[in-house]
Amino acid sequence: MERLTKTVMSSRPWRFVTEEDLGCALGVPSMLNREEAQFYFWLAHRMAHVSGSMVDLGCFVGGSTAYLAAGASARRERQRPRMFAYDQFHASPKVKRRQLYAKGISQFDGQDTLPLSKALLSPWSDQVVLRKGRIEDSTWSDGTISLLILDASKTSRTMDMMAQTFFPHLVPGISVIVQQDELHWKEPWIAAQMQRLRACFEPLCYVPGGTVAYLYTRRVAPDLLRARQVHGLSDDRITRALANSAERLSAFGVKHKLQRQINALRLNPGQRKSWRFRTWVPEIAESPQRIAAE
Ligand SMILES: C[S@@+](CC[C@H](N)C(=O)[O-])C[C@H]1O[C@@H](n2cnc3c(N)ncnc32)[C@H](O)[C@@H]1O
Repeated sequence: MERLTKTVMSSRPWRFVTEEDLGCALGVPSMLNREEAQFYFWLAHRMAHVSGSMVDLGCFVGGSTAYLAAGASARRERQRPRMFAYDQFHASPKVKRRQLYAKGISQFDGQDTLPLSKALLSPWSDQVVLRKGRIEDSTWSDGTISLLILDASKTSRTMDMMAQTFFPHLVPGISVIVQQDELHWKEPWIAAQMQRLRACFEPLCYVPGGTVAYLYTRRVAPDLLRARQVHGLSDDRITRALANSAERLSAFGVKHKLQRQINALRLNPGQRKSWRFRTWVPEIAESPQRIAAE
């Protein structure tokens, strides 16, 4: 099978994943858009033979995990990869209403979503382990990680802590990480982190929405990870990292998204929690000329 490279991924081959392929994973509520779902399926299918576990940080009720599990199962390897899905498995009444009941889940009491997630992921229960709690307080002792999905980097501090726990278990030249919200305007620390760790991660592709995937290329020592933490950096230093990231990722046509993050930080100075970004920052049309002028 072809190696995962920027060239292979530039034609977005995952768009050929059909609704039929996604199958019963479509029944698990998810915040992913359709192309992201296709990408998760495709990537897990491509990587199912690679030794190591697949780890989904911030699975909500398991939508992303279901796409990964469906993709890996479709490969029919004798031994399927183990999957570990982390979340606090807690949903407020508003989240229940908007993200669960609106998507066909029957009403239930309380805010604990672990029983619901277990039921929704039952087709893949032999593969998937659910871990409830604050991810930044977790430890990892389950061997190497082939695929790491990050969708819970809601503060710069917890993002740094998650990197300290999980990045040392990636395998150079093999492991892939997916930064689900790298280009979300309220989470500018993710692109800054990936820029500061550029010696260890090579950009592979952008999936429309806000996702960027990377190949892990060189071992990231724990002291380097500590030295490259984003929490504690000034807005100026984060802004500089974002501007450099815009150059590095320019082939993906996402400069406007990084510029939006720079603008968001300017309008929300010192903010390091995504839910506290108060000042709305409008979308910027995809236009290199406009970025250059800004
Ligand atoms: C955007 S949602 C994930 C969407 C999911 N991947 C899907 O397919 O629908 C982010 C999730 O991260 C979880 N989360 C955020 N910060 C967390 C933390 N520090 N510890 C545990 N879970 C966290 C939230 O509970 C939420 O379910």
